[in-house]
Amino acid sequence: MIQRQEEVPLNSSTDRLGLRFILFGVFCLFVGTLQGFIQSTPRIRHWIHMTGQAGHLVDPLAHAHINLIGGVVSVVMAMVYYLLPRLSGKQIWSQMLGELSYVFMVAGVVAFYSVLLTFGILEGNRMLDQGEVYPMARAVYQPYHQIGFVLSALLMGIGHWTFVFNVFATVWARDKRKMVKTTAGVVKERV
Ligand code: HEM
Ligand code: HEM
Repeated sequence: MIQRQEEVPLNSSTDRLGLRFILFGVFCLFVGTLQGFIQSTPRIRHWIHMTGQAGHLVDPLAHAHINLIGGVVSVVMAMVYYLLPRLSGKQIWSQMLGELSYVFMVAGVVAFYSVLLTFGILEGNRMLDQGEVYPMARAVYQPYHQIGFVLSALLMGIGHWTFVFNVFATVWARDKRKMVKTTAGVVKERV
């Protein structure tokens, strides 16, 4: 007999934020592992070895960060948003800061990945096609390379730091917003 699975409601907006982080994280793992597979093929391995520092932007830098920050860190953040209210008995200090952190994480990871991949490929191809050394190939795309790199790194940084702040503020906040159990699940209220 087929059993219908009962719908389990998400308990709070923090849970829904966690779900968004999971979806983004899994999407990044898809993109990162797809790149991992592509860069394992002999032709791309050869290109990476021939292009030195430009190839380094693509593999390992772009690959490592889309997998580790986009994938692993996002899923860790989702776990924290799910577990922290339950373990501490308090609501997340600021839902708005959580949402902001999500926007910065997504924008930062997407921008960092795009910048590394785009300039890595453009500069690497230039090195091979024009016979230029890396600093010359890189100079062609300045200041865009530098600005894109620093700005996207800053976006990711803000995404991480707002998250870190929110976690510590939740644990140390005086204003206790306890969680209570109801028949509909666990909901939270100010006490
Ligand atoms: C289908 C899955 C994957 C494939 C085929 C793959 C393939 C590769 C390849 C070919 C390299 C370059 C190795 C080298 O240059 O010596 C690499 C590096 C790397 N990969 Fe992956 N990868 C995959 C998934 C992942 C995942 C899921 C993560 C992280 C969660 C990850 C993290 C890294 C890191 C950090 C490096 C750099 C290692 C270093 O600096 O030596 N990879 N991967
Ligand atoms: C704001 C956040 C971050 C920024 C802007 C950033 C940027 C960088 C930069 C510039 C490098 C050195 C590139 C080089 O080889 O010259 C690097 C290396 C690396 N980062 Fe990050 N990173 C961040 C966070 C993280 C996090 C959270 C992880 C892991 C969860 C991570 C994993 C790595 C790894 C594995 C390498 C070495 C890659 C390799 O050369 O094999 N990064 N990162």
